[in-house]
Amino acid sequence: MIAILSALASERDAVLEGVHVDRVVRKAAFRVFYGRHQGVELMVAATGIGKVSASARAQAAIGEFGATGVIFSGVAGGIGEGVRAGDLVIATETVQHDFDCTVFGYQPGEVPRPGSLAVASDGTYVEAARRAAARCAWEALPDGRRPAVHQGRILTGDQFVCSEETVARLAGTFGGLSVDMESAAVAQVASWNEVPFLVIRSFSDTAGGDAPAAFRGLSELAARNSARLALATFEELL
Ligand code: ADE
Repeated sequence: MIAILSALASERDAVLEGVHVDRVVRKAAFRVFYGRHQGVELMVAATGIGKVSASARAQAAIGEFGATGVIFSGVAGGIGEGVRAGDLVIATETVQHDFDCTVFGYQPGEVPRPGSLAVASDGTYVEAARRAAARCAWEALPDGRRPAVHQGRILTGDQFVCSEETVARLAGTFGGLSVDMESAAVAQVASWNEVPFLVIRSFSDTAGGDAPAAFRGLSELAARNSARLALATFEELL
């Protein structure tokens, strides 16, 4: 059964708008909503914010609650060239930008043993998301624009990024299209469990000095568009 996970309850609730919930199972403050989308079973849950919470809950979703595939849906700060608030990204790979063992000769972000810099998303899921994006009915952005959908590397760290200097440093070191606080952690957990995994994010902000205000203004709409793409991707995988 595929799990659609999000960090925040508001991001999860955006997914639940498209789900008929049959039952809710709660264990150790983790609530999992079992239901159906287009008649097909799935589970939906919020992991909490940050890499530790997201890892623990992703492991529970897979190990205890029966997830056999994971789509992560939520908001992020857009950082790439040509990326605008309200746009979306289909992650082809994830990197932990705050992982630093460079003093031992590893690359910035590289996790020693097994020695990976980036964790790749599942190819079948990425293809499904591409097809879904081509037909997705978006909620219009405040300026009336239709969101663009990007594809590429995304970055994760235990930090809400809100400075142009940090964005420039991250973009210079890693490239990448967005920053968030959970994706790469869940990707690593899914990969260890040999479970297919994909992240979809919509940009609530562009991670500069105005990011907290932008986040407050746009995160709910962005979460809804991310949820639409996550559910449309789920449909493509049926
Ligand atoms: N999620 C949404 N915006 C973000 C940002 N600027 N930094 C980290 N995570 C985010």
